Amino acid sequence: MIKILIGSVLLLLMAGCSDDATDATGKNLDKTENITQAKAVTAKEAPRTIERWYKKEQVVIGQTVFSQNCAICHGDKAQGVIHPWNRKLESGLYPPPPLNGIAHAWHHPLKGLLYTIQNGGKAIGGQMPGFKDKLTLEEQASAIAYFQDFWSDKIYQAWLNRGGLK
Ligand code: HEC
Repeated sequence: MIKILIGSVLLLLMAGCSDDATDATGKNLDKTENITQAKAVTAKEAPRTIERWYKKEQVVIGQTVFSQNCAICHGDKAQGVIHPWNRKLESGLYPPPPLNGIAHAWHHPLKGLLYTIQNGGKAIGGQMPGFKDKLTLEEQASAIAYFQDFWSDKIYQAWLNRGGLK
């Protein structure tokens, strides 16, 4: 039951995501988003004051999990491989987005991120494979810790404000 609920929430979120991406290909990209993206690029250098949900050890484990399972599509530092990431490919599908804070991953709560990693994007017309039989829950969470550690405090705070941990 909870899974179904999370599923529908994610579907809604992903639908919102695609809409945004379509907008972003045109002139509608709003100013705040531009500013947020510019800030995200310097994420690693920015001082960290907000407490994160994950521990440093998870980031370390996550780096291995990510490099072995995710980097081929999302980039070794979650920076994305295909740019622009928000424009459809010839196949009609969107490329794997960056997960380092410059794209939309921060629009999704932790449960939603986990759902995508477990079930992939196929159910929603995407191409990402699911990892529920390949990675333990700890490994999945560590992969999230790894890419969220690239998020600046500003992006992380925006994610919290959107209910990231609810
Ligand atoms: C074969 C390529 C591929 C691999 C491997 C892959 N992904 Fe993805 N991922 C995608 C694509 C493409 C999308 C966009 C949705 C879709 O089309 O399925 C996506 C979407 C996501 C999203 C949602 C991002 C957003 O902004 O909405 C997350 C989170 C994610 N992937 C995490 C991971 C993690 C963690 C791994 C490794 C455990 C991984 N992915 C492995 C291709 C991949």
